[in-house]
Amino acid sequence: MTNVILAATGNVGRQIVAQLAGHAAVRAVTRDPAALPGSVYGDLSAPDTIAACVEEGDAVFLLWPLHTGRLLPAVVDAIARRAGRVVFLGTGGVPDLGFEEQEKLIHGCGIASTVLRPSTFAVNTLWWTGQIRTGDVVRGAYGALPMALIHEADMAAVAVRALTEPGHDDATYELTGPEILTQAEQVRVIGEVLDRPLRWEGLTREQARLRLLADETFPDSFVDVLLDGYAAMLAGPPPTLTSTVQDVTGTPPRSLREWVADHAADFVCPGP
Ligand SMILES: NC(=O)c1ccc[n+]([C@@H]2O[C@H](COP(=O)([O-])OP(=O)(O)OC[C@H]3O[C@@H](n4cnc5c(N)ncnc54)[C@H](OP(=O)(O)O)[C@@H]3O)[C@@H](O)[C@H]2O)c1
Repeated sequence: MTNVILAATGNVGRQIVAQLAGHAAVRAVTRDPAALPGSVYGDLSAPDTIAACVEEGDAVFLLWPLHTGRLLPAVVDAIARRAGRVVFLGTGGVPDLGFEEQEKLIHGCGIASTVLRPSTFAVNTLWWTGQIRTGDVVRGAYGALPMALIHEADMAAVAVRALTEPGHDDATYELTGPEILTQAEQVRVIGEVLDRPLRWEGLTREQARLRLLADETFPDSFVDVLLDGYAAMLAGPPPTLTSTVQDVTGTPPRSLREWVADHAADFVCPGP
């Protein structure tokens, strides 16, 4: 059985490929195989190209990075006609296909299926690298917003189990990290690990919006989506922790401290 990893160049996909290496057969899929040795071409916006990546009985890791869910049913159908198992990382980033609809589609596709529903990725804190590389202050809105940040390696570890061992069929796994931290607390933790006096400085939503729009590394089209998402999270029920990472993998989820230690180089200005 081959494990077909879609979005193999992303935060989670890269980790899955690394964790499977040497243990199981892997076919990594990207739109740019020239940049990833040994990978094959597949474009989620062209379902036929995904069908060509999947062979009889494969186990497939799928996520949905597109901003419309219009083609997700066709991609899932292309996978279900060939593969034996699909592991899907759910997304809140598809306005026209909510999480429950995604879950119904995956669990109803006719092959063994597992759905992962992760909390906020710890890797999102890399959006602050520009500010942290050049000063000790991180400015943003919603500093009191609590999150249960999760390390991409923990999502990958659960995905690897679901891809390669029995016992995960029809499951929907809610995945979180081990702690709840506000954005202001996250900045403090990053500072402690980097041994820097980092601090959060609150901005109004409009100030944060203008700052993000002026940030060349942040996509303009995502600014309002992000701020609306944060406002909705703050207005909704506070996050809770789950034991799913530990239950499925036997290892507790990594803390933000561990995540920062793994990514410390990202917060330092690249050399000349
Ligand atoms: N950030 C969060 O807090 C959070 C929380 C919950 C869920 N999520 C979900 O997690 C997913 C992102 O995961 P990630 O962080 O691992 O990915 P990522 O680092 O953002 O990278 C995006 C991946 O998607 C692939 N991709 C983009 N367009 C594609 C296309 N048309 N066809 C095939 N592949 C395509 C890219 O591959 P190539 O460019 O190599 O083709 C790349 O591997 C999204 O669905 C997001 O909504 C994120």
